[in-house]
Amino acid sequence: MRSFTGRDILSLKGFERMEFDRVFQVADDLKPIARDRRNSDLLKDKTLLTAFYQPSTRTRLATEAAMHRLGGHVLGFSDAKMTRAGDFYQESIKDTFHMLEYYADVIAIRHFQQGAPAEAAKWSSVPIINCGDGWGEHPTQVLTDLYTIKGELGTLDGLKFLLVGDMRMRTMHSILYALSQFDSEAIVVGPPDMTLLPEFKAELDELNVAYREAGDVRDVIGEADVIYMEPVVQPDYAASRTEVPKDYGLTPKEYVVSRELLRDQGKRSSIVIHSLPRMDELPVDVDGTRHQRYWIEAFNGVVMRMALLSLVLGAAE
Ligand code: CP
Repeated sequence: MRSFTGRDILSLKGFERMEFDRVFQVADDLKPIARDRRNSDLLKDKTLLTAFYQPSTRTRLATEAAMHRLGGHVLGFSDAKMTRAGDFYQESIKDTFHMLEYYADVIAIRHFQQGAPAEAAKWSSVPIINCGDGWGEHPTQVLTDLYTIKGELGTLDGLKFLLVGDMRMRTMHSILYALSQFDSEAIVVGPPDMTLLPEFKAELDELNVAYREAGDVRDVIGEADVIYMEPVVQPDYAASRTEVPKDYGLTPKEYVVSRELLRDQGKRSSIVIHSLPRMDELPVDVDGTRHQRYWIEAFNGVVMRMALLSLVLGAAE
């Protein structure tokens, strides 16, 4: 297994099964600190910098909370528009990260351009963590999701995943790459203008990912062990920020997972995972059902970032 120390976390493509297991083991080890709302001193000599060029509630704050839980220091952009990358100069990724590497020991980046974290990693000698790049990938979120599923169902093998939403979405790319390492299958349901791109499907075929496409959650929800959701009513992830439009449509029924649908057609043991934020594809009355696992997923978001920070900074090996 490759060492995590000093490593960039850019993609789940090429992430090996033993590496998933190692990350989950470290997360298990560190979880009591977060569960007991304690702070430790594991990373007391380390500093995290968060360079977020796109809005975020969970990913940025969970990563920063993780660093605080481990006793480290945190700094970051207050608003990317108030940096030189966001004003007249439009400063390049190269110049920005060549400089930021001197300010911290690890850098977490979210960017609207696919590939920006990989570009940053070329110019930074400290580890870069991809916290979402355009439509590209969202590895820390999907590690959180898989860790949650494993914790709730005890395994990542022998499961049927129902992926519902915009298939261009970065989480969908990361989870389908990840499934190449597990003996599980995916059923993919998204609107015709939000389907998996042909080049991405070719990659999945090369990785022997077992998946099939379907048109309506109502036709396949009865097969699913894990219902993994993203909105179809959502902003352009290749933009730095999208204002609320004057009007936007409701989610078509083909992509809605309601309490009634879970009751009438879902497996009693199925779980619903949603990285949030949500629109109307996941009505709030699902929150009170036994299927709901997105709040434990939110807690695990801190635990997973604790594990990743400890690993890339060499405090866990
Ligand atoms: N799930 C997720 O990436 O949330 P944020 O956009 O709030 O970080």
